[in-house]
Amino acid sequence: MSLMIRNGRVITPRRDTVADVLIDGEKITAISQNLSQHADTILDASGRIVIPGGVDVHTHLEAPIGQHVSSDDFETGTRAAAFGGTTCIVDFATQTRGRSLQEAFDTWLGKAEQSPIDYGFHMIIVDWHDRRRDEMAQLVNNGVTSFKVFMAYPGRLMLDDGEILSVMKQSRELGALVCVHAENGAAIDSLTRSALNNGNTRPIYHALTRPPAAEAEATHRAIALAQLAGAPLYIVHVTCRETLEELRTGRTRGAQVFGETCPHYLVLSVQELDRPGMEGAKFVLTPPLREPTHHEHLWQALADDTLQVVSTDHCPFDFERQKIADAGDFTRIPNGGPGIEHRLELLYDRGVLTGKISLVRWVELVSTQPARLFGLYPAKGVIAVGSDADLVVWDPGARHTISASTHHMNVDYSMFEGFSVTGRAETVIARGETIVSGGAWKGTRGRGRFVKRSPGGHVTKPLSGEKSSPMPAG
Ligand code: URP
Ligand code: ZN
Ligand code: ZN
Repeated sequence: MSLMIRNGRVITPRRDTVADVLIDGEKITAISQNLSQHADTILDASGRIVIPGGVDVHTHLEAPIGQHVSSDDFETGTRAAAFGGTTCIVDFATQTRGRSLQEAFDTWLGKAEQSPIDYGFHMIIVDWHDRRRDEMAQLVNNGVTSFKVFMAYPGRLMLDDGEILSVMKQSRELGALVCVHAENGAAIDSLTRSALNNGNTRPIYHALTRPPAAEAEATHRAIALAQLAGAPLYIVHVTCRETLEELRTGRTRGAQVFGETCPHYLVLSVQELDRPGMEGAKFVLTPPLREPTHHEHLWQALADDTLQVVSTDHCPFDFERQKIADAGDFTRIPNGGPGIEHRLELLYDRGVLTGKISLVRWVELVSTQPARLFGLYPAKGVIAVGSDADLVVWDPGARHTISASTHHMNVDYSMFEGFSVTGRAETVIARGETIVSGGAWKGTRGRGRFVKRSPGGHVTKPLSGEKSSPMPAG
């Protein structure tokens, strides 16, 4: 089956022009003005923007976090992602302590079978042992080319500095990318104990016990360790000015460090955690929301390439059933929030329409750069001949109000409730198949495939006529 998207404003990093895009089967086969080829179906995209499908490289679907499991599974979560214009995710598979990485990979492959869009995995390593070296190599052979380590949550998820160095050294050998959750776990534990001893149990203390300095200090240390290992590094969920400074100074010292932030850090602030009663629990996620003064620094960092990626860190929990099920104190609230559906529209409305970032930069942040950094490019993340036909026809004038009563995520509240946004994914095409059309679901459960990624993904693979070049280190 072939599909012609006619007269859309086609955006990729090297193109912003009105053109036709021809899809044959699962691939893009031609891009030009006034294409003359026959197509089985014609989609008129006049007045619309055509972009590569969004790539969300930070999600936690059906993820066990403490006593709870995140409320979206691979079917509901990726369907919601698709409604928002995301056609590929890289989810965090998590090793169980004392068990092999391969076992976690097999478990996550089983969960993801339901996914209607394509997916890959990073592997979270929660305990270090010499055996892990070979297990990491085996995973890279299986297409899992990125690993995550935690500098927070001692006794549960955290690795110590020596162990993190070992993961980084092995990643360097394997051409894999290490993602780091950078917060100083010991300092946070100490601040948390003091808060609880003083009877400070409300949700706002989640934020007050995880200050920006704890994030920036850990980022500094992660960069130093990566330099010792000679490995590239990706800092997940950057929230604050202090961490941005660490990224910039790390690069001046030669570190190859990349960074992401998430929509909630750009448009929400710490005051949400101070809502009456337990309402603030809806916003308990890690690292925490910050003072609004950080917003402009994060937007600037997206514009000037201090940060390369916007992901969602989608990790939803129902409010009554999970967030406040054990409402003793803030440490008992499962960490995480929902957002997989709203990434493109929030960034478009609050970033592109306000002039903080360009249309081309928007596409880079939500699709091209995550695809490049994590070894999905050029199959994903670009509109080019030979690439997968993962495309979004974006209606730049559509207005709607975000609400839990209308969103598609399997969670009973929205962090962005009542936000009015302009711009919406009108048609979403995944490997040539229309899966969302005019607000209606056309996809099928299980049509997504595991994407086997190649090592060295943080280095750009050439498109035809292009030379290979490393990603900018800042
Ligand atoms: O609060 C969050 N972000 N939960 C998910 C786990 C993580 O740290 O990314
Ligand atoms: Zn994290
Ligand atoms: Zn996360």
